[in-house]
Amino acid sequence: MSKIPPVHAEMNQFPVSEGQLQIGGYSLDKIADMLDKQVYYAYDKAVVKAQIDIFHRHIPSNIKLHYAIKANPYLPLINAMRPWVEGFDVASQKEMLLAIQSGMPSRDISFAGPAKQISEIRAAIVSGITLHVESELEFERAINIGKELNTKPIIAFRVNPAFELKASGMKMGGGPKQFGIDEERLFEILPELDYQQFEFRGFHIFWGSQNLKQEAIIDAHNNTFALAQKLVDITPTPTVTLNLGGGMGIPYFPGEKRLDLAPIGENLKQLLAQYPKLAKLELIFELGRFLVAEAGIYASRITDIKVSRGHTYLMTNGGLHHHLSNSGNFGQVIRKNYPVAIGNKMGAEASDEKVTAVGPLCTPLDTLADKMQLPQAELNDWLVVFQSGAYGPTASPQDFLGHPHVSEILL
Ligand SMILES: Cc1ncc(COP(=O)(O)O)c(C=O)c1O
Repeated sequence: MSKIPPVHAEMNQFPVSEGQLQIGGYSLDKIADMLDKQVYYAYDKAVVKAQIDIFHRHIPSNIKLHYAIKANPYLPLINAMRPWVEGFDVASQKEMLLAIQSGMPSRDISFAGPAKQISEIRAAIVSGITLHVESELEFERAINIGKELNTKPIIAFRVNPAFELKASGMKMGGGPKQFGIDEERLFEILPELDYQQFEFRGFHIFWGSQNLKQEAIIDAHNNTFALAQKLVDITPTPTVTLNLGGGMGIPYFPGEKRLDLAPIGENLKQLLAQYPKLAKLELIFELGRFLVAEAGIYASRITDIKVSRGHTYLMTNGGLHHHLSNSGNFGQVIRKNYPVAIGNKMGAEASDEKVTAVGPLCTPLDTLADKMQLPQAELNDWLVVFQSGAYGPTASPQDFLGHPHVSEILL
């Protein structure tokens, strides 16, 4: 029996009208005309809202949803999401300023990230946001800057847990890590601190990212609650907030399926019952890609079609410089294809031929889709890369080779 090759999850989040993909009710041609650009990212806010609704449908209502701006800091998107989420997680001073300017109250903004610079710590203290402290020296610096400014810094400790995520995905906790303070060290220092010198907010336990395995996430939540209970118990002052991290993934590659949040939510309900002291805290999830990645496409025009020794190349005006993660060079070990379509030929039958779509950079790494079966492509067709709403333009080397930067639109 021949094995059926794994396929991409169905990209059914956007409507199609007469074979034309519609983003926020606009065809790709219309968006190009509106922007006067032939290569762009388009984000559909209805899809973002739908993802937020999925979260709330399954996750207990006393767990707040924060958006991790790093996933997509496009300003119209941040502003659109502002009323839909209860806080923002920022990773730099620039993101902090975007969050504050959106009108999000400073108490609902938290700043996590290793190697924070003194100027960033200072700006965070002045702004009254919560600093997720990632090292003991960072803590000392925050206390000293607070004294200088006569302002108590608001501090939560980012914990590097001893447990490690059981499944693949990006591991950001367990073992030696640049993130957070090791839990065993926290057990030593927490009873000794002078809690008069700062406003103690709580703990941040972030163990990883892009996880599609329910069992692994459930396991991480069980470990997170057990650890949090111990931390809360040995801290001599009341804990206010417990940030449970995030890690929920979206399907990018063949064989991957959308995460079912129902069992994750059920398990969280049980954990809240099992740990009544923790259930009374302000509980937070901070999610990036789960909220925005499904809502974005990257569209480029096919500007040449050439055949080299029998293999067809769709040459486009887009590439790795706009979309590094799709090229496979943002953390993938072996390059796999994102879901891709010809956006003006939706529903058309795929040709038998496997084609490769590339960009204008002189490196074989500049591949948008490799050996994929797509409908017969013609010049001027739209090559669309789905699942592109997170870690797109701002995670790409836009200046590489001096081609124009990419445009963005939220519809
Ligand atoms: C501290 C922190 N929070 C949130 C995120 C967002 O992760 P994701 O976009 O996978 O949800 C990250 C990602 O690196 C992170 O480091």
